[in-house]
Amino acid sequence: MKGIILAGGKATRLMPLTKVTSKQLLPVYNKPMVFYPLNTLLQAGIKEVLIIIAPDYAGHFLHLLGSGREFKARFTYEIQEKPRGLADAFIIGKDFMDEDSVAMILGDNIFTDDLSKEIKSFEKGGRVFVKKVSDPERYGVVKFDQDNKAEKIVEKPKEWISDYAVTGLYVYDKRVCQFAKELKPSDRGEIEITDINNKYLELGELDVVPVKGEWFDTGTFDSLLAASNYVAKHNDSK
Ligand code: G1P
Repeated sequence: MKGIILAGGKATRLMPLTKVTSKQLLPVYNKPMVFYPLNTLLQAGIKEVLIIIAPDYAGHFLHLLGSGREFKARFTYEIQEKPRGLADAFIIGKDFMDEDSVAMILGDNIFTDDLSKEIKSFEKGGRVFVKKVSDPERYGVVKFDQDNKAEKIVEKPKEWISDYAVTGLYVYDKRVCQFAKELKPSDRGEIEITDINNKYLELGELDVVPVKGEWFDTGTFDSLLAASNYVAKHNDSK
C-alpha cells in the first residue's frame, strides 16, 4: 500500500498565520503539523509517500521533509496548482499509485491513536474512519439506517443527520483513480471525496470504522489550539 498526504490549499481561515507559510507547516506544540499525518502513515508501515503541496511553499516542504531517508521512507512531491477538492489527490496521484491501494490523509488531520491495524487489514473497496463530533456541519457526515448501517454520506449537511464525521483518512483500492476522474464538481466548485465514498457505499464496498482516540482537523484557530494543548499534555518526550 502507498500513502498520500494532501497538503495543498490556501488556508484563508487561518489568516494571518498562513500569509507567509503553509497551514501544514504551522506548529502543533513541538512539531510542524504535517509530521502528525505523516506519522500515521509511517506507523502503518507505508514506505512510499506522495506529498501533494501548493506551489507557494513547495520548497519549504522539501527542505523540511527531504527525500524521506531520515524517516526510513521514500517521499515524492507533486504540486497542486489550485485547490480543486480532495478527490483531486487521486488524479494527481494516479501514476504514483500505479496498481497499488492507497491510504490518503489530509495534512491538517491529527489522529492520536495508532491506526496501523485498521490500515493494514484493508483488502478491497474503501474504508473511512468516523468520529462523533459536536459540530457535524463542518464535515462529511454519515447517515445511518435503522439497523445502524451507513446509508449515505452528506458533505457539510445543513440539517442535522448524525454526529458522525468522516475524518481525513481514507483507504481505497486502485479503482479510486477512475472514480475520481468521473466526478463532477459540487456547488462549492470542488470534486468531493464524499462522492467517492458514496460510490463505494452504493457498491456495498465501504467499511466505516470508528476512531477510538482523539481526532483534530486543525483548520481553525480553536482546533489548532486544542490539538497543541492535547499534544503538550500527552507528550512523552518532554
Ligand atoms: C474535508 C472533507 C470532509 C471531511 C473533512 C475532514 O472537508 O470534504 O468530508 O469530513 O475534510 O477533515 P474540508 O476540509 O474540505 O472542509
